[in-house]
Amino acid sequence: MPTASSSRVAACAFSALFSMAVGCVSGPSRDSPAQRIEPATAVPTDPAFTWQLPTGFPEPYVPANNPMSAAKVSLGRYLFYDTRLSGNGHFSCASCHRQKLAFTDGRDRAMGSTGELHPRSAMSLTNVAYSASYNWADPALTLLEDQALGPLLNRKPIELGVAGREDEVLDRLRADVETVASFEAAFPGEPISLATIVRAIAAFERTLVSGNSPYDRYLFWGEPLTDGEMRGLKLFFSERLRCAECHSGLNLSGPVRAADATFEIGERVDPAAQRSDGGQRFKAPTLRNIAVTAPYMHDGRFSSLEEVVRFYAAGGRPVVRASVLESELAGGFSLTDRELEDLIAFLGALTDHDFLGDPRFADPRESGQSDTLLAPPV
Ligand code: HEC
Ligand code: HEC
Repeated sequence: MPTASSSRVAACAFSALFSMAVGCVSGPSRDSPAQRIEPATAVPTDPAFTWQLPTGFPEPYVPANNPMSAAKVSLGRYLFYDTRLSGNGHFSCASCHRQKLAFTDGRDRAMGSTGELHPRSAMSLTNVAYSASYNWADPALTLLEDQALGPLLNRKPIELGVAGREDEVLDRLRADVETVASFEAAFPGEPISLATIVRAIAAFERTLVSGNSPYDRYLFWGEPLTDGEMRGLKLFFSERLRCAECHSGLNLSGPVRAADATFEIGERVDPAAQRSDGGQRFKAPTLRNIAVTAPYMHDGRFSSLEEVVRFYAAGGRPVVRASVLESELAGGFSLTDRELEDLIAFLGALTDHDFLGDPRFADPRESGQSDTLLAPPV
């Protein structure tokens, strides 16, 4: 497990390698108004729980009222895949967040348990623990616990359809001896409630850490990328393309945070790193595992990475409102066919196949490990 200081070294490695991934400073600076790094808190951790983090990855931020425990993660994993958590008993979080697709659903717009279309595309849950805010466009939603209530209770559109049927859903869980025992192990003395459900799910989500892509192995293990991936990496971080202005740092995304509040992971926190649409500003999502999460953008309007890159190259900004960065980029850039191929090869080098197949993140019922629910691994 990396210590805070080895994590800082990793942060410095990011900014030393790529001039555009600015960072390596200690503490929030005054020119970063969008900074949302929470104060470090000493969160007590269950001795049976250990983070299994890839080299170079800091310990995720964990809110003080929901410390990690092995029993909680195990229960949260079970509930993430549990169709009893939908009004009609047919849907779970995993219906829209499938592991093989880096926890997206392969659709342009998500579809809820009653067949209603969501206005937006399901987001990847890769490294979701490190995000400073959740959903495409809600900077105020900063906790996974709060986020999880959304799909459970939303009525417009209906996702899991639990609103109005809370007692029925909770009764299904209360009626099952194994589930009751798992809740008791995770939350001793507390009743089964929506509050404990979302705390368990959030704890599981915080373990969804991906850091074994060819790009990580290049950064942290010194393993070579292919020539094409390497040329693509240079293009990605170039002044000409400027992708890393918004997709920066550890997650190649907008703002991130970690347990150590001074850890900025080469992050440049820039309010302009969000694009707007009818008054809504979209966060720059992580590009990790991007090759498996088509279709792309909040509305799933592009079906391939080539379309996304051509869109940027053409300077196309249909959803953009004024910002300095956007106007600087408005002209787009030209790209030869080989450069396009190289850039896409680099994006492909962000795929972590171990993560997509990691049995720790799979449906416990399918992998025959449901007994870990009662006896969490130590
Ligand atoms: C109907 C499909 C659907 C279901 C079911 C669903 N989600 Fe999502 N999820 C989405 C969509 C769509 C978004 C983007 C929402 C937005 O921006 O408005 C999303 C976003 C998220 C995000 C934000 C990711 C980020 O990087 O900001 C998290 C976390 C998440 N979902 C977790 C869950 C959990 C936990 C559950 C189960 C309690 C769940 N989802 C159930 C479709 C779904
Ligand atoms: C001005 C900030 C900014 C810059 C510069 C930028 N992006 Fe983005 N990127 C975003 C935002 C915001 C989104 C989400 C937009 C949406 O959903 O409408 C996004 C979405 C994407 C997506 C789709 C992600 C998904 O999960 O669907 C890809 C792929 C992508 N960008 C790649 C790139 C590449 C490659 C470059 C450089 C050529 C680049 N971006 C430059 C902000 C930026």
